[in-house]
Amino acid sequence: MTVSPLPIAILISGSGSNLQALLDSQRYGIDFVISVVLSDRPGVKGLDRAAEAGVETEVVPWSGFDSRSDFTAALCDAAMGYGAQALVLAGFMRVLTPNAIERFPDAIINIHPALLPAFPGAHAVEDAIRYGVTVTGVTVHFVDEQVDHGPIILQEAVAVYPRDDVESLHARIQSVEHRVLPVAVAAYARGILTVQGRYVRWDQAAGEATTR
Ligand code: GRF
Repeated sequence: MTVSPLPIAILISGSGSNLQALLDSQRYGIDFVISVVLSDRPGVKGLDRAAEAGVETEVVPWSGFDSRSDFTAALCDAAMGYGAQALVLAGFMRVLTPNAIERFPDAIINIHPALLPAFPGAHAVEDAIRYGVTVTGVTVHFVDEQVDHGPIILQEAVAVYPRDDVESLHARIQSVEHRVLPVAVAAYARGILTVQGRYVRWDQAAGEATTR
């Protein structure tokens, strides 16, 4: 039985350190292949990281579209044009419209720097510090129609220390992100994740029976 790597598109908006973690993880396995890195803005470091790794890149500029829906459609078109069968939002700071979910059902993964459902939105690390929590963390989840809401693939806690500021806490959160995102994406690509309502089941046997 031959199992070919799953082609995926990575969507970024900035530094792309999570993209780098995914690129680096490919040294240890070939569950997925990054067909293209898409950015909503030009000139970001993540595009350089992709180019250095020899991965195709394309900018789909947020400002170039009349509506969020048109922007989402253009991103999906671009991803599919490179053969991608799944999207990974790795520091992608735009909200997609439901047309993305129709085109990639249970096939869009997001990483969020908090333990959802706590602290959704674009300022999760700052919000956690402001709230005074002593534990926050990382969530990797499937994307559904609501922001930072879909079924959870995995979560890991990160302690908040009394002297933390946004920068120090985010750095610790990111070191966890860089470890867990490749694990989640590889599991998805191996076909061992099944979405059942709010739950994501991990089933090694399912993966062994899957041929792509
Ligand atoms: C990550 O912390 C991610 O959780 C959040 O944005 C950050 C992106 O970092 N959504 P990078 O671009 O991967 O370095």
